[in-house]
Amino acid sequence: MKRIVILISGRGSNMETLLTAKLPCQIAAVISNRADAEGLRIASEHGVATAVVAHKDFADRESFDAALAKTIDVYHPDVVVLAGFMRILTAGFVNRYHGRLINIHPSLLPSYPGVHTHARVLEDGVKIHGCTVHFVTPDLDHGPIIIQAAIPVLQDDTEKTLADRLLYQEHRIYPQAVRWLCQDQIELGQDGKVRYRFPKQAGYALISPGLE
Ligand code: GRF
Repeated sequence: MKRIVILISGRGSNMETLLTAKLPCQIAAVISNRADAEGLRIASEHGVATAVVAHKDFADRESFDAALAKTIDVYHPDVVVLAGFMRILTAGFVNRYHGRLINIHPSLLPSYPGVHTHARVLEDGVKIHGCTVHFVTPDLDHGPIIIQAAIPVLQDDTEKTLADRLLYQEHRIYPQAVRWLCQDQIELGQDGKVRYRFPKQAGYALISPGLE
């Protein structure tokens, strides 16, 4: 059975979804860069080992990432899952976990990399928003895409309503992506593209606003 380590910085709702999804893997540890991350308490309640590597204790990204990797490797993970981990990682760190480091991002990448995605979507008047699970590469928020979910942006949406509806979809696609990885149903190919052993095709369109 594959082992996974989850990295968080905050409330940890995606992490909790992974802990409760009955995935075919062992969740070996949850690690945070912040000691006050709410998700650490949730992980402990689920009986999962936790650790803190506080970025504030390190002079630069290189030394923080080296300490983080050392802590991660104690648990010998096959897959490292970023779930609301709010630190930019160095190329050295990312390359160390090539093909086994994944992230969830609250936009339909490659649109809206970075922060404040919901506010930017509303500002631009975009009609379809979404979330993306992708392999992490040194190019921030641009790694090979594993799975995406799209939602309509509604007339009266606020940042909060949009974020809440999107989070529901995040909680659906992240366990799916981790399940695929744990069952060797997907891999990152040499060409930088995601290969699916059993490709599934979506057979419908999301039109927003809807047709009459
Ligand atoms: C999620 O919206 C995720 O897409 C982004 O950070 C947020 C983390 O939320 N990377 P949570 O900590 O999983 O609740």
